[in-house]
Amino acid sequence: MSDHTVTISDSASGKSVECPVYKGTYGAPVFAIKDVPGELGMFTLDPGFAATASCRSAITYLDGEHGILLHRGYPIEQLAEHSTYLEVCYLLLHGELPTREEFEAYERSVEEVAHVHEHINRFYQGYRYDAHPMSMMVGVLGAMASYHHHNLDIWDPENRELTCRRIIGKMPAIAAKCYRYLQGLPFTYTDPTRHHVENFMQMMFSRPNVEYQADPKAVRALDLMMILHADHEQNASTSTVRLAGSAESSPYAAVAAGAATLWGKAHGGANEAVLHMLYEIGDKKNIEKFVARAKDKDDNFRLMGFGHRVYKNYDPRATIIRQACHDVVDNMASSDEPWLFETAMALEEIALKDEYFIERKLYPNVDFYSGIILKALGIPLSMYTVMFAVSRAAGWIAQWKELMEDPEFRIGRPRQLYVGPEKRDYVPIDQR
Ligand code: ACO
Repeated sequence: MSDHTVTISDSASGKSVECPVYKGTYGAPVFAIKDVPGELGMFTLDPGFAATASCRSAITYLDGEHGILLHRGYPIEQLAEHSTYLEVCYLLLHGELPTREEFEAYERSVEEVAHVHEHINRFYQGYRYDAHPMSMMVGVLGAMASYHHHNLDIWDPENRELTCRRIIGKMPAIAAKCYRYLQGLPFTYTDPTRHHVENFMQMMFSRPNVEYQADPKAVRALDLMMILHADHEQNASTSTVRLAGSAESSPYAAVAAGAATLWGKAHGGANEAVLHMLYEIGDKKNIEKFVARAKDKDDNFRLMGFGHRVYKNYDPRATIIRQACHDVVDNMASSDEPWLFETAMALEEIALKDEYFIERKLYPNVDFYSGIILKALGIPLSMYTVMFAVSRAAGWIAQWKELMEDPEFRIGRPRQLYVGPEKRDYVPIDQR
């Protein structure tokens, strides 16, 4: 319900239009512009959608000025401390935290559909030995659509539930196969007797004929990482999933499109880019030089892991993960390069005192630290964005489900301001 309006008037034509204002639970209100084209004969221009709310959503709230992130109302700090990734998946999808019985039933139902079709294994064989695992993940997710199309009914609530469980369940197996293919290791199978994240680690790291038991500290660190990356409202990859879903595409194909978007280094690819940057910096004494490069307008180098479209104070996930980073680096045997963390800390300190970063409100984001944790877990650099994708699948699919259940559902179709040539006649090639 709207209790007041915003008036947009066109000084040239003298026409105006009343736009209803809507308030959400929190955050800036919005005014709806759907009558603007009809009344004023104009569209709105908003490159990068920086001022546009693309949907109503009850899943995640974030306040970038105050560093707040809530999933279904629960602060990320509390979920990070008390919950598990799979419980957060349930919360994102169903709106409420499960009872113990509901959670156990959910866990079983996810693990029941966590295996991937054996034929998919052959699909991996088509990739080069040094393929980027994100290209494999995007391809395999797209291929999944071919296994689940006969019995897919995106308009049936039960079928949607099954699809959500399938995607969340199968992501770890898909990621583990990417890793094992590149490592030259035989593929593994899901073990329904293990919890979701432990199962993921077992699929990734077990070796043939060697009993594998994941280090509980490592399982907890990965679980935490996955909670922190589970959803982040209408970011680029989630908006891509929604846009693809709005065309009534297969949800597997929509998630593949989301993964393709996540791969970019301005988005999920940043965690890998942070580590490349730290290796390039190499030594603390070089930091000043790299900070100067980041500030130089003629150099397109940016400090990876700094800045965020929405967080202009601090990224609450970064605060949580920064502490976890300390714990992991202090406690885990595989943290064989402690200088990485030291360099990261020194870079953070120098950048945060610098006027350039202060003025532009550029703070370390979650990806600044996540790579260091993944490194300590023994996960190779090229797999970082894959790990992000496995986690973000929860948000993608919860947002897809919400879209499909939205009474305002319609295909997403932005407009444009055409600035190309005026109409002209075709000139035959020998007369040009
Ligand atoms: N290093 C140096 N300068 C930066 C950085 C950076 N990391 N980020 C932004 N700036 C500067 C820009 O040059 C610009 O300066 P100007 O006003 O003098 O022209 C100003 O800060 C604003 O930058 P925009 O690009 O307009 O900010 P936008 O909101 O569009 O971009 C983004 C946000 C893409 C995250 C950007 O900060 C960036 O590229 N960061 C590095 C990559 C990264 O860490 N991405 C992960 C994001 S979090 C996630 O996806 C999980």
